[in-house]
Amino acid sequence: MMQELILRRPDDWHLHLRDGAMLQGVLPETARHFARAIVMPNLVPPVVTAAQAAAYRARILVALPEGAVFEPLMTLYLTEATDPADVAAAHASGLVKAVKLYPAGATTNSHGGVRDIEKIRHVLEKMAEIGLPLCVHGEVTTPEVDIFDREAVFIDTVLDPLRRATPGLRVVMEHITTEEGVAYARAGGPDLGATITTHHLIINRNHILVGGIKPHYYCLPVAKREKHRLALRAAATSGDAAFFLGTDSAPHVDALKEHACGCAGCFTATNTMPLLAHVFEEEGALARLEAFASLNGPAFYRLPVNTAPMRLVKHEMAQTFPDKILTEAGPVTVFDPGFPVHWQVEA
Ligand code: NCD
Ligand code: ZN
Repeated sequence: MMQELILRRPDDWHLHLRDGAMLQGVLPETARHFARAIVMPNLVPPVVTAAQAAAYRARILVALPEGAVFEPLMTLYLTEATDPADVAAAHASGLVKAVKLYPAGATTNSHGGVRDIEKIRHVLEKMAEIGLPLCVHGEVTTPEVDIFDREAVFIDTVLDPLRRATPGLRVVMEHITTEEGVAYARAGGPDLGATITTHHLIINRNHILVGGIKPHYYCLPVAKREKHRLALRAAATSGDAAFFLGTDSAPHVDALKEHACGCAGCFTATNTMPLLAHVFEEEGALARLEAFASLNGPAFYRLPVNTAPMRLVKHEMAQTFPDKILTEAGPVTVFDPGFPVHWQVEA
């Protein structure tokens, strides 16, 4: 029997669109299914000022395929030199919806990020005052801390002190990967949210490392052990307003993924919604997919929900998805969940 699910068109609250030929190649994959996306600012060079965000937004709009209805929600890359007045003006004009904190060195193009939280205190205070959310890449970069512990240590040593020191600051814990992240987000009240990616609901660290190294499963924060994946599934499918979809779809050309020092990132823009339907069905929570993908995010960001519908259909036959997206920058491998998927987005 054919099964279908109708939900409001979803949004992606954490997305990498890149620039130039890569932007051109990957933007249609997101615009096909998502109404809006919080666009990450870690370009080379990063999107630091309001003027840079306005120019990047214009490039995204130009790259949109004919007829696509998609709104990029812009972010600023926080540096120790960020001017609170520029941030406030970018927010007041409606241009910028969040500011992104990358601890320096934590991930792709984060070397210009923040080393000393004290140096951004005045920006955070301004953001708390105006209600502009801070999106946080929550990993410490201390060499002594094991990569699998970096999120939990960040919560205790950076995030919690930062939130206590800045009352009223609205924070999104980006792409949480641990039960500690889930627990902290769940207990944080209305000013704390957390995005969860598609791939972290599907893979654990064994998928990356057992039976040969799988570079297309390598992303940051790196997937953790199975108990953490299960905690993320429980959180995402709970309906709890603290949790919403941020795919962290992060394209890198295959040559840089299949490399001696491979780039971090999973590219999930193409098949995220069918994969999420699969995961939510497995968890007996199809009725809560809309909360995760279409309702909780706009509520946190204080934006209207989308009104257009999306229809997902479960077919008898396993559905096929492209293995790769061919961009002018090079081929980009689409995330392979490793199991047959029967759901498909349909008109
Ligand atoms: C992202 C990228 O490639 O820009 N990579 C990733 O593994 N998620 C950066 C990030 O969000 O950490
Ligand atoms: Zn990201």
